[in-house]
Amino acid sequence: MSGDQPKDDRDNARKLAEGLTHLTGFGNEHSSEAVPGALPHGRNSPQRAPLGLYAEQLSGTAFTEPRAHNRRSWLYRVRPSAAHPSFARTDNGAIRTAPFTETVPDPNRLRWNPLPEPAPGTDWLAGLWTLGGNGDATQRTGMAVHLYHANASMDRVFSDADGELLIVPERGGLLLRTELGLLRAEPGHIALIPRGVRFRVELLDDSARGYVCENYGAVFQLPDLGPIGANGLANARDFMAPVAAYEDVEGPVEVVNKFCGNLWAATYDHSPLDVVAWHGNYVPYVYDLSRFNVIGSISYDHPDPSIFTVLTSPSDTPGLAGVDFVVFAPRWLVGEDTFRPPYFHRNVMSEYMGLIEGAYDAKAEGFVPGGGSLHNMMSAHGPDRETFERASAAELRPQKIDDGLAFMFETRWPVTATEQAASADHLQRRYDDVWQGLERHFRP
Ligand SMILES: [Fe+2]
Repeated sequence: MSGDQPKDDRDNARKLAEGLTHLTGFGNEHSSEAVPGALPHGRNSPQRAPLGLYAEQLSGTAFTEPRAHNRRSWLYRVRPSAAHPSFARTDNGAIRTAPFTETVPDPNRLRWNPLPEPAPGTDWLAGLWTLGGNGDATQRTGMAVHLYHANASMDRVFSDADGELLIVPERGGLLLRTELGLLRAEPGHIALIPRGVRFRVELLDDSARGYVCENYGAVFQLPDLGPIGANGLANARDFMAPVAAYEDVEGPVEVVNKFCGNLWAATYDHSPLDVVAWHGNYVPYVYDLSRFNVIGSISYDHPDPSIFTVLTSPSDTPGLAGVDFVVFAPRWLVGEDTFRPPYFHRNVMSEYMGLIEGAYDAKAEGFVPGGGSLHNMMSAHGPDRETFERASAAELRPQKIDDGLAFMFETRWPVTATEQAASADHLQRRYDDVWQGLERHFRP
């Protein structure tokens, strides 16, 4: 991919996206070269790297972290990343970063409609809008919930030093041009951009809308499977990493860097997406959620929704995630004498839920694609009245849940809303009403 200038050309982007090939697997030692002979063999940093390239290591974990968790990649590039001018502060737009102190944490159940239409010419970065989060980016703990709504391709390049970005498209496909190559993410996929990896988002459709979990903590990994066995949930082989592809662009390129909550910009004299070959296990990836192997009960009750965990960011406490990404994918429900929708509950973990398409089986109305709900630590929630009445009276036959795709960012700390989220016009003011009118049936 040498020589093509970034431009907002949907046809060209879609053609590129449709022809992409991938490397497969999760956490592998991948390797790839866009030009034969660009990748050194037998060592990482030869005295002179092949083809006049510069060798550079990108470390996503401390050098000394245990091998099983260690993530780094070696990049062989036209110019080293160090060849850049000074960064200067630029407008943060609607992006906010932990610690979140604009509002007090709210015990109420909150729900939002989708973001409003953006102004013409809004690219993915300008369309990023922070709902809230927890932790502290400078301490590398916690997470942020963002949404995006864009109608233009980026012609600038972005990277996030504060965390990895888990992108959940809800409307419109994305072409992600990253340092390590190109990825396509459509609604129903997730894409992950590792901390610090530079990338540009180009649109494949008129507009793009979706969600982002910015994970300040440990890199997402696949959950352990325990008694489930060696297979199931998200299978490692279904994750797709890019093959090497580089931009040979000389000329001004704006590069934006998110660092400790602020955006900083610099104008390079070349594209930093100039990696000709690379190897390693610190890579962007996409995953098609329809590949998720859903496991559930075949007798009675249903398991806790942790059984739907796709990716987890572990904390120092075993079993207690900084944040989990959980998907409610199409599945069969067969439980006998069982209330089949999600049960009423209160949870020490805090739950942000979004909807990629269709409807969610615990909410008959009001929870719409592009919207989202926040059920903070210990807030009481569960099926709405209509869902409860219907499910309690339903004749129990094998039933396919296939009319929607919902997901959850579940985190160990409460999510504090940003001021813009707490006062948004698209915040639903009467969400509590869905649990009103649940009748008393107990008559001793
Ligand atoms: Fe819940």
